[in-house]
Amino acid sequence: MNLRLFIGLGALLLVSGPVRGTNVSTPLVLWHGMGDNCCNPLSMGAIKKMVEEEVPGIYVLSLMIGKSVTEDTESGFFMDVNEQVAFACNKLAQDPKLKAGYNAMGFSQGAQFLRAVAQRCPNPPMKALISVGGQHQGVYGLPRCPGESSHICDWIRKKLNSGAYTDAIQKHLVQAQYWHDPLNDDLYKQHSLFLADINQERVVNETYKKNLMSLEKFVMVKFLQDSIVDPVVSEWFGFFKTGQAEQTETLQESALYKEDRLGLAEMDKAGKLVFLATDGDHLQFNREWFNAKLLPYIR
Ligand SMILES: *[C@@H]1O[C@H](CO)[C@@H](O)[C@H](O)[C@H]1NC(C)=O
Ligand SMILES: *[C@@H]1O[C@H](CO)[C@@H](O)[C@H](O)[C@H]1NC(C)=O
Repeated sequence: MNLRLFIGLGALLLVSGPVRGTNVSTPLVLWHGMGDNCCNPLSMGAIKKMVEEEVPGIYVLSLMIGKSVTEDTESGFFMDVNEQVAFACNKLAQDPKLKAGYNAMGFSQGAQFLRAVAQRCPNPPMKALISVGGQHQGVYGLPRCPGESSHICDWIRKKLNSGAYTDAIQKHLVQAQYWHDPLNDDLYKQHSLFLADINQERVVNETYKKNLMSLEKFVMVKFLQDSIVDPVVSEWFGFFKTGQAEQTETLQESALYKEDRLGLAEMDKAGKLVFLATDGDHLQFNREWFNAKLLPYIR
């Protein structure tokens, strides 16, 4: 479990904000990060409760990937991401409360998984996608691992270093599926089963583009002191320039944007992309910030 995350999110409960009085609201779907699960009362459970307090009457669904909380946590490390996305799509399609559409908020890796939901599963329609510390160009390195998960992460790091793009590792290790090695760009493009696919690295899937562009807003939150995500600019869809791992480029400087392979340039021009920064470490924010910066997008 990510203890620091829990402490950060736990603080949300103590700083009680004013309850506002609107109740005509679009449902909200949450997808948790690595080492976390749908329902922990100190993390996603707290977020759900907080949103329900702030937006009376709102329906909040925190995705559980699997049949139990334990399975959900394990899925975050070991379940094929494409299967997780299909599982989530199925769950959303079968929920009558979401029929008219929903907003989505993903935390850390849950954010890029929800983007895949937007690109692959247009029904029911996702309206706004809010990415909180998501890694849209993946990660290259696991500099520090959260709390109790650190032994799992040490093991994962070894596996990734020994061959992230082998089929066996791609299939069974979630973090390999958004592992983006700028020194082995061809390997990444050819063998990344999840990230290279949703980022249109092999082909331009026009369906992905059309579906993503039908979002009303795509909000990306970057944590300026993030010590878990490398490089941090991935939280704003930037990454290392190809061929080295020091200099980074912004989304706007990337081929993905310049060739507009995913529709992001057009979304940017239309004012649909929102780049937010906050001064904490990974997923560290308080209720006041959440209410001021994110709540306006989910009301
Ligand atoms: C909220 O719902 C209640 C009861 O359904 C209704 O009376 C009230 O007018 C609603 N408030 C707003 C701001 O929509
Ligand atoms: C494009 O994406 C759609 C939706 O996931 C999928 O059904 C289709 O097979 C994809 N096409 C290609 C060429 O990958």
